[in-house]
Amino acid sequence: MSTTNHDTTRQVALITGASRGIGQALALGFADAGYDVIVTDLPQTETELRKTAEMIGLRDRKAWLYTLDVSKREQIDATVQRALADAGRIDVLVNNAGILKPSLLQDLDEKTWDAHFDVNVKGVLMMCQAIMPHMRTRRSGRVINIASIAGRQGVATQGHYAATKSAVITLTRVLAQEAGMDGVTVNAICPGIILTEMGRNNLGSEEAVRHWEEVAALKRLGKPEDIVGPALFFASEQSAFVTGQALNVCGGIYFH
Ligand SMILES: NC(=O)c1ccc[n+]([C@@H]2O[C@H](COP(=O)([O-])OP(=O)(O)OC[C@H]3O[C@@H](n4cnc5c(N)ncnc54)[C@H](O)[C@@H]3O)[C@@H](O)[C@H]2O)c1
Repeated sequence: MSTTNHDTTRQVALITGASRGIGQALALGFADAGYDVIVTDLPQTETELRKTAEMIGLRDRKAWLYTLDVSKREQIDATVQRALADAGRIDVLVNNAGILKPSLLQDLDEKTWDAHFDVNVKGVLMMCQAIMPHMRTRRSGRVINIASIAGRQGVATQGHYAATKSAVITLTRVLAQEAGMDGVTVNAICPGIILTEMGRNNLGSEEAVRHWEEVAALKRLGKPEDIVGPALFFASEQSAFVTGQALNVCGGIYFH
């Protein structure tokens, strides 16, 4: 979906993995906050992605939709070029796309390790390499990387995933140091357990849900919408002096 009549006063956010879960909530949350939104996700999600774009349209905001595998540099470069031509600008990049296939480290095969690093780490790096030059030229931009509390703590059966999310936190700190002089901030959000397809698959049972609800200080697990407020903060002028940080958004299940 694309629309004409580019309005230069409206800010544009690009969100990866926006067909469902946290990415979809972010796309709609940014639209509700007044942003036009570029939504991207894998080709096989196009039907759902189109629904996200339609819901943005219903909020009277512009939506541009592109299918994109964030582990493929040539797709990223072509998509970013098209998106910049269509939308005219990208003010906010949210690197949300991610995968989690649990396995004990002892049993982990190389293909699974590589797939997690390709999507969760290289995908973030390549999206930043494609979009941050545009932000730096404009001397303005916000990058928000969706990491995880797993990247701080490490979690049994998620060693490979946790390692990718630790890497995302480190990339966030370094990109912030490398881009700050050009007016671009880079921050990360570390969600706790959010009840999306990934979150539910990961917990596996209703007993596990109840256990973690009891552990959480706020006595509940997260909804995708719980990530929206912190992301809007990092996107806004209110966070102008905040960069290179990683914020836990977990209802109080982890405190470091
Ligand atoms: N749900 C949780 O409990 C939780 C906790 C901490 C962090 N996170 C992180 O939040 C982000 C969103 O997770 P979610 O819970 O909404 O998961 P989800 O599985 O519901 O959604 C992930 C999205 O990423 C997309 N995606 C996967 N591989 C991709 C690729 N190669 N290219 C482009 N898109 C791709 C999927 O199609 C999907 O739309 C992920 O980075 C995840 O690691 C989730």
